[in-house]
Amino acid sequence: MAFPAGFGWGAATAAYQVEGGWDADGRGPCVWDTFTHQGGERVFKNQTGDVACGSYTLWEEDLKCIKQLGLTHYRFSLSWSRLLPDGTTGFINQKGIDYYNKIIDDLLTNGVTPMVAIYHFDLPQALEDQGGWLSESIVEAFDKYAQFCFQIFGDRVKQWITINEPNTLAMLAYDMGIFAPGIPHCGTGAYQAAHNLIKAHARAWHSYDSLFRKEQKGMVSLSLFFCWLEPADPNSVLDQEATKRAINFQLDFFAKPIFIDGDYPELVKSKIASASKKQGYSSSRLPKFTEEEKKMIKGTADFFAVQYYTTRLAKHQERKEGELSVFQDMETEVFPDPSWRGVGWVYVVPWGMRKLLKYVKDTYNNPIIYITENGFPQCDPPSLDDTQRWDYFRQTFQELFKAIHIDKVNLQVYCAWSLLDNFEWNNGYSRRFGLFHVDFEDPARPRVPYRSAKEYAKVIRNNGLEG
Ligand code: NOJ
Repeated sequence: MAFPAGFGWGAATAAYQVEGGWDADGRGPCVWDTFTHQGGERVFKNQTGDVACGSYTLWEEDLKCIKQLGLTHYRFSLSWSRLLPDGTTGFINQKGIDYYNKIIDDLLTNGVTPMVAIYHFDLPQALEDQGGWLSESIVEAFDKYAQFCFQIFGDRVKQWITINEPNTLAMLAYDMGIFAPGIPHCGTGAYQAAHNLIKAHARAWHSYDSLFRKEQKGMVSLSLFFCWLEPADPNSVLDQEATKRAINFQLDFFAKPIFIDGDYPELVKSKIASASKKQGYSSSRLPKFTEEEKKMIKGTADFFAVQYYTTRLAKHQERKEGELSVFQDMETEVFPDPSWRGVGWVYVVPWGMRKLLKYVKDTYNNPIIYITENGFPQCDPPSLDDTQRWDYFRQTFQELFKAIHIDKVNLQVYCAWSLLDNFEWNNGYSRRFGLFHVDFEDPARPRVPYRSAKEYAKVIRNNGLEG
């Protein structure tokens, strides 16, 4: 099963999840520092990313793992508050610049393409104190930060992700409040945050386009979480419509404005508007883009970056009046098929990957696609012989092969999540997504390959699966 020549095989991490060094060398606090330090069991066993994998001091150990795998791409994120401790360019932390320069230079010396996420959930606390993603002022702040990153690193970084999973962030951080900053705004927070996230991404893309593209010749997009959905009852028209709504609310909410026409899907707008009216709101809980903003947002991505882990079934569910939530607006209940095997929220459904890729191809004009994350966790304590996980990866690669060769999807890069076991947000260290095991009890944080790492290295060497 040979993949196209030059196919990109990568692995990903994110700053807060691996770096540690939370207050080292002038790094400012981010929302996850505040959230984890507050305790209250909102994170598994009140664990924190204070030390995590120690990648801030142990980068060279990470590089060894990258080389051992033979990765062509390494995707990592920049810690905003390590570079700009208070979130603004008023104070620049040279030590932060040095750290990322070293990573980028080492990768390039070793023939590995750096793919850089400018922002991955870890907003500087100083900006959260001004309203975070709920406040319009964040758009300007993000644009300035993104310009700073392009300016400093863009001579060498050619693949940029502005914002990682804005859809997850809007929902979990600002609607449900289970991610930092942890204050729920059910039925409103996700929409306000999403609105600003989309505008911030678009502004940063324009900045790249007008100020840096000509000289730097890179590509800029944002990465979207996409849990594939199937109707619970394939013969039920109601469930089919519920599935469409759920895909609209989850993916197209972000992808349609950015890739198609600058505005939200009609179904999303009408559902939220009619519910808001009934609930006595004077206007829709979903903010509106002005005509000027629509023009600004449309067409602001150079490739489609998608992160797939799993699939759910979707079932029509009448709105429960009085209950304010995105799920109520969606009028859809989502759940796994009882026959699927899973760990945590990730059920093994490799075929969902192929369907999702086909959906993206058909809906978004056959874009270049990067899978910027995909993976399966183990519970703690994990087994180094992670045969079941390898099975998930192997079957996923088979689906990618079919998507490329049969469906003619323009997939160019695949990144496994994650290079290392790391701080899995509110699950702390209890879910291990790494290709390399990290011993979080040992101050040296040794990295040891799981079987999946060894098998993935073979796939990379052969540019595909054998047999
Ligand atoms: C997506 C997020 O981007 C990443 O931070 C997280 O660890 C993985 N999903 C696994 O849940």
